Amino acid sequence: MAARILVVDDDPNVQRLLTYTLKQEGYEVIVAGDGADGYKRWAAEPPSLMLLDVMLPKMDGYQVAAKIRAEEGKTAHVPIIMLTAESDIEQKVRGLRAGADDYLIKPFHSAELLARIKSLLARFAPRELLMGRPPMGRVVSFYGAKGGVGTTTIAINTAIALHRELGRSVALVDGNLQFGDHRVFLDLGLDRKSVVDLVTAPSVDAELIKQVIVRHDSGVGLLLAPPSPETAELVSAEGLSGIMGQLRSMYDYVLIDIDKRLDEINLQVFDMAEIVFVVMTADLSCLKNVRLLLDTMRTLNYESAKVQLVLNRSNAYTGINVKNAEGALKRKIDHQIVNEYRSSISALNSGAPFMFTKADSLLGRAVLEFARAIDKTAPAPQGAAQLAPATSPT
Ligand SMILES: Nc1ncnc2c1ncn2[C@@H]1O[C@H](COP(=O)(O)OP(=O)(O)OP(=O)(O)O)[C@@H](O)[C@H]1O
Ligand SMILES: [Mg+2]
Repeated sequence: MAARILVVDDDPNVQRLLTYTLKQEGYEVIVAGDGADGYKRWAAEPPSLMLLDVMLPKMDGYQVAAKIRAEEGKTAHVPIIMLTAESDIEQKVRGLRAGADDYLIKPFHSAELLARIKSLLARFAPRELLMGRPPMGRVVSFYGAKGGVGTTTIAINTAIALHRELGRSVALVDGNLQFGDHRVFLDLGLDRKSVVDLVTAPSVDAELIKQVIVRHDSGVGLLLAPPSPETAELVSAEGLSGIMGQLRSMYDYVLIDIDKRLDEINLQVFDMAEIVFVVMTADLSCLKNVRLLLDTMRTLNYESAKVQLVLNRSNAYTGINVKNAEGALKRKIDHQIVNEYRSSISALNSGAPFMFTKADSLLGRAVLEFARAIDKTAPAPQGAAQLAPATSPT
């Protein structure tokens, strides 16, 4: 059965264009010319997806989205793409906070629109199609060869790409227990629950995890680091590995961002991880640290394929190019992420990751390519049903 798409826009030209484009792709299209009518049509029969303009007569797009989210309850979720003329990040974040799942800035290309629609329809496919498909349970860790190379930036944005663009359910763990940065990067206060709420509980089960995980506006589930360095001591290697084990049974991906120490906790994370992404930049101290790390991993009998090198800011001029770096390390660099200071810093200052608000930037596209490469290496599913994305447990 064709998916039904509700287009809410007051501009007859936009209505005509969207109707034509969507019908050509085989979608059934319903049109509403103002916010109140859009809401009424949703209430009469929820569509498979909504395209919702922001500036609308009677009720604006934010109000419509918020009203729908308030009324649809926990079991239903109609995916909403907000169509906005404003390119201001704050407006976009406001739209997403009102309950939209994605947004497009006008004018947009029809190919872009159709790709976003497909991805959302897959992500929110009816539950009955998804039942019986177990979470993939892949654990991947992000380890910085030295401080400040961009490990947290890459971990957070990869998590968002895996969820929003590839439809996977994702938990992101801030494993930098003493000085975790995820609250800053994601604009979350010290009052939010953290891993401490799990390690101090008498027992950890899926129900408790669901209460402690903080759901980011992007849909990624966050397990935050302790609110202060002292409380970090409460987290033991054993405690963390129990939690990671539980998370693995609940999500397609568990991403953990860890600090540089090769201590008991981080070695435990390496043990559990299917892939250890070592994030580096092309400079001598990183090359030295990567070489030491590779030696240590070999001594500890980790398979060499477990470690993958991610060269961040790959096109920044450092005097050492990819070839030189590969020569010095006697192995290949597995992934490269471009240098784009503007997207990166404005995302950090606004607390809204670029993969969330500027997915089509150079940096956004590089991270998406990286996320696709990770997802491609997933072990082959046993049945066709397993290919469908899972619903998020949070
Ligand atoms: N590809 C990139 N292009 C430009 N700037 C980047 C890129 N990746 C990261 N940055 C910037 O580098 C700085 C450090 O990034 P980040 O905090 O992610 O690094 P880290 O390795 O996690 O640091 P720490 O050691 O403190 O945990 C930030 O200001 C970030 O915006
Ligand atoms: Mg960091």
